[in-house]
Amino acid sequence: MDSTTRLQDDATVVARIFDHIDHQTTDVGETTWREPVENYRSPERFAAELEILRRYPVPFCPSAALREPGSYVARSAGGTPLIAVRGHDGQVRVFRNACRHRGTQLAAGAGCQKAFVCRYHGWTYGLDGRLRHVPHEHGFPGLDKDARGLVAVQSVETEGLVFVTQQSTPSLEAELDRLPRLIPPSCRLIRTNEGEVPANWKILVEGFLEGYHIRSTHQTTFYPVQFDNLNVVETFGRNRRIAFPYRAINKLRAAAPAKRSAEGKLTYVYHLFPNAMVATFPGRIFLILLEPLAIDCTRQIAYVLSDREDDDAEAQAALKRGGDFVDAGAAEDRDVACSIQRSVASGANEFFEFGLFEAAIGHFHRTLRAALGAQDECKRG
Ligand code: FES
Ligand SMILES: [Fe+2]
Repeated sequence: MDSTTRLQDDATVVARIFDHIDHQTTDVGETTWREPVENYRSPERFAAELEILRRYPVPFCPSAALREPGSYVARSAGGTPLIAVRGHDGQVRVFRNACRHRGTQLAAGAGCQKAFVCRYHGWTYGLDGRLRHVPHEHGFPGLDKDARGLVAVQSVETEGLVFVTQQSTPSLEAELDRLPRLIPPSCRLIRTNEGEVPANWKILVEGFLEGYHIRSTHQTTFYPVQFDNLNVVETFGRNRRIAFPYRAINKLRAAAPAKRSAEGKLTYVYHLFPNAMVATFPGRIFLILLEPLAIDCTRQIAYVLSDREDDDAEAQAALKRGGDFVDAGAAEDRDVACSIQRSVASGANEFFEFGLFEAAIGHFHRTLRAALGAQDECKRG
């Protein structure tokens, strides 16, 4: 597996894929990885993982979900209810979703509004979080409205994503500076799918990170168009990118190497540590967020984005077919994840073993273990 921190260009990835097709090989890791099943069952481990989700910069939503001033997205991240909102100045800000009077949440889901008015007693906050109005204010003698605005968390908008971290870090922008191009600014939000999956969040992450299961799990969905167990795996920082080529990639052999674009010829899955995926499909980009609700339950939020302007019925129908196809494959992955979850307490396995083809999963678990270790050290220090 490639361990450089820079991702290769399409032409290089395609050349590596042709090499694998010609030799019936795939990228392999140096070692296998054994993850103790206890790590999917231990409440202490789960609590520590939630802390990681709050401490590291994580994608909260795509920029395209916050198109205009007043557009907001409210959901929990790492167990904390947050609201991201675009201000009149065009800047995205993220706040803890709690009224500064008695804590009522100020918004749910997504929408667009001029201000956040608390439904309990009507305290009103501007898009910049400032407390603007308190009904019957004389009931709060000495209230310092400037000090009672919504509580902000650090956020950065970059590469078409809004990142948040609940533990401020001075190096946030520099850290995110090293990201590859993820979601082009021209992308619009087509739809959002959300649902609860009765499985540990890490089991769901694992399902995105290898192509060894394409033939068995996705027999009638992905397998007819994709190769089984043929991937290019790269890592960048705490993150990774896995290329899943389509059989149609062979058409690129006729093109000059420098002119080989991966668009429509493979799916890239970018795993942004710890719990987000950006996956490219023809005409579509998916942002998938895995928010742990409990040790055995995860909210999966999928934002579907596109920069295609095709309005004619035929193009729309083709895109819909593509969307249905991805949904069918994703349902198969969720099904397997739920099946694994049901076996976690069976006592059958002391560890799950990830083989040489599943090295990206080993990299994920190693990164998570290191992050948890660093957290422990911080606490001891
Ligand atoms: S709790 Fe929000 S106004 Fe009272
Ligand atoms: Fe899958």
